Amino acid sequence: MVNTTIAAAIKKHTQDMIAFRRELHANPELSWEEVRTTQRIAQELAKIGIEYRLTEPTGIIAEIKGGKPGKTVALRADIDALPVLELNDSLEYKSTIKGKMHACGHDAHTSMLLTAAKALYEVRDQLKGNIRLIFQPAEETAKGASAMIKQGAIENVDNVFGMHIWSTTASGKVSCNVGGTFASADLLIVKFKGRGGHGSMPEATVDAAIVASSFVMNLQAIVSRETSSLDSAVVTIGKMEVGTRFNVIAENAVLDGTVRCFDLETRTRIEAAIRRYAEHTAAMYGATAEVDYIYGTLPVINEERSALLAQSVIKQAFGEETLMFEKPTPGGEDFSFYIENIPGCFALLGSGNAEKDTQWAHHHGCFNVDEDAMATGAELYAQYAWSYLQQENF
Ligand code: NI
Repeated sequence: MVNTTIAAAIKKHTQDMIAFRRELHANPELSWEEVRTTQRIAQELAKIGIEYRLTEPTGIIAEIKGGKPGKTVALRADIDALPVLELNDSLEYKSTIKGKMHACGHDAHTSMLLTAAKALYEVRDQLKGNIRLIFQPAEETAKGASAMIKQGAIENVDNVFGMHIWSTTASGKVSCNVGGTFASADLLIVKFKGRGGHGSMPEATVDAAIVASSFVMNLQAIVSRETSSLDSAVVTIGKMEVGTRFNVIAENAVLDGTVRCFDLETRTRIEAAIRRYAEHTAAMYGATAEVDYIYGTLPVINEERSALLAQSVIKQAFGEETLMFEKPTPGGEDFSFYIENIPGCFALLGSGNAEKDTQWAHHHGCFNVDEDAMATGAELYAQYAWSYLQQENF
């Protein structure tokens, strides 16, 4: 099922792939500012001979038209960097922009997808269908995928595949699970209004600090008592702003938090519970509550047939021992918006290697990619697309 011409093409282009990743790494651009990155991708696509169109304000959608009729499969890479100060001082391709860094591996994703495109272009005459290439901006703000979808990224697309370099998974391993892979990541803002007053005379006040503290404590029962032990969820209050001065009873409290879970039913239940807890905790003390529950990414839930196809491609292309089953991660990934609309799946490409110092957490200033994993990533992109189009009646 896997294509040997593709495998050979990836090998041939591996050095260029690493060089391009290093170039991107040295020139990181934040979400929605990926102007240079977009231009460079466009230049590289033009060199290969692949047609593309630019999306607004940044990003690119390209298409490889196959020689035979068939379906269309999309491959997605994210292209943005983070506001992180790079601490890898000895790297010759260290970020040249202070305070900005490719600290999540999106530089590698972009370069791997370009290399996959080169390989797929070589076999375009044999392709049974088309391949859509999505170079997506602004993944780190979870806004890019929706913007690309609005601009037609998955119009007439039957299936979509994406992946992420993963530093906590050993280099040389690849994971693609059926079902929940990344969590939904929502933002929660709760405002309590009491009645302020003198710190020595509580009887004349409604203390927003007490309401907020009580709410934070109560909130954890949503996870422990209202969520099945078989469903995972996290409810975190990360920030509390209460009061103004040591001897003034607080009138207002504002709490910011996040909710993570792996299925939409759990998410709906948790949202409703938070609203109920806020309202009733406030009422108990005579205060009022206002809850803003802002949806972030959806959970990434890999469609079964797509994930099984990816697993079989991984085994055939790289050997049985390459495939592993990583635990779902409570991080968020806006790839979820593509697979809300069409079937598809998302893989994790291990790149953790203590000997190369590439085991650092994503978004850390010491994060780096084991570049030896990139050929696997590029080939997986290409072989997945090839295999998907080869299948009858998928
Ligand atoms: Ni990332």
